[in-house]
Amino acid sequence: MTGGTRLEGSVRISGSKNGALAIMAGALLAKGKTVLRNVPKIGDIFTMVETLRSLGAQIEMNGDWLSIDATNLTSHEAPYELVKRMRASFCVMGPLLARLGRARVPMPGGCDIGARPIDFHVKGIQTLGAYIETEHGCVYAESLKLRGAQIYLDFPSAGTTQHLMTAACLADGVTVIQNAAAEPEVTDLADYLTAMGAKIEGAGTTTVKIAGVDELRGVDYTIIPDRMEAGTFGIAAAITGGDVTVTHVVPEHLEPFIPKLQDAGARVDVRENTIRFRMLERPIATDVMTMPHPGFPTDMQQPMVALLSLADGTSVVTENVYERRFKYISELQRMGADIKQEGRTAIIKGVSQLTGAPVTATDLRAGAALVVAALAAEGKTEIAGTEHIDRGYENLVEKLCSLGADIYRADSERRGTALCLA
Ligand code: EPU
Repeated sequence: MTGGTRLEGSVRISGSKNGALAIMAGALLAKGKTVLRNVPKIGDIFTMVETLRSLGAQIEMNGDWLSIDATNLTSHEAPYELVKRMRASFCVMGPLLARLGRARVPMPGGCDIGARPIDFHVKGIQTLGAYIETEHGCVYAESLKLRGAQIYLDFPSAGTTQHLMTAACLADGVTVIQNAAAEPEVTDLADYLTAMGAKIEGAGTTTVKIAGVDELRGVDYTIIPDRMEAGTFGIAAAITGGDVTVTHVVPEHLEPFIPKLQDAGARVDVRENTIRFRMLERPIATDVMTMPHPGFPTDMQQPMVALLSLADGTSVVTENVYERRFKYISELQRMGADIKQEGRTAIIKGVSQLTGAPVTATDLRAGAALVVAALAAEGKTEIAGTEHIDRGYENLVEKLCSLGADIYRADSERRGTALCLA
């Protein structure tokens, strides 16, 4: 891409990565076939497919359609090779416990954006009555039958709320999760579990109540659109002074993000299931603080900093969710950004131009930040570490090309995997 090419046109948003991952783990709860639609074809979904298969689930995939039949689970042990790739795979523990009475799951890996412990998960499962042992890098849990309980989360963790909801669905009695996460992906999981026969109240608020039922059935369910993919295209439009409409979205899911993009100067027109993002002038500096939903999402912090690095003025961005989510700043600096990091705060003095450079994506959203920065940069950028980007963005290269970007994969030219914006 020659720096500054305006993106123009419309792009269809894929299904939500974080919604689909939690729901796929939840599908282990049903004896019977679950059909999921609008499932994105991305690395993390393939990892979850392999994880569920390793436990005995039968899975078929066809386009954005996925069927999971977990009637005959054959193993209570999730393989290290798969769980180390992705944090969300730890969430098979609760469903395995509920179905088989025991589970052994290695400590998870995933994007390196902070300590990301699993203590809330483990404490929650223990509060539901499971015996827990941690040994050789694995968490082993056992319980003939989980019992409903009151669980208070020290932080409204999205993954823990989702995980404990699935664990509690087949427990004896009522579970109440206080200080629960209110992310749309939590509500998506609750809607899916409710369709399966679960009794859940309050999803999307800070108190979620789950009354245990005896069994859950397989259902046909459509995953919500990926609000982070939609937001990334919004920032890509803004940083290139472009005009992009994202389609097949739920605009309310982007409510915490849209006002900040508007503060940065973007024009945003919301319709029923589309959002048009335009930028007519240079971005304006604005301060951002990431927070659990409905605050500004941490997943959009990195691409937003890329946009603000070209803004008129100085912005202060505070990361309140993950302490190491600023690792990409050194890569943006390579491209000419003027950013100073002090602990969890980044101070961004807008520059008038970024320049292309060889850079490396260190995690998924860091990759997104580098891609949007490269879209606006003068000259060629080569981004290594694309496996991180492929974990979470479906057909990113094709979608950006359809909007006019000059981006291609270097895989065919060289053996490494890199994205080139030249
Ligand atoms: N935390 C703990 N202990 C725990 C669990 C979480 O201390 O047992 C802390 C984390 O270290 C973090 C905070 O709680 O500081 C929030 O973490 P949360 O549990 O909410 O994150 P997660 O469930 O692991 C999901 C998404 C992330 C997204 C966050 C926040 C999935 C698969 N991942 O992670 O998505 O950033 O919620 O919204 O759902 C991404 O898509 O790029 C991504 C990282």
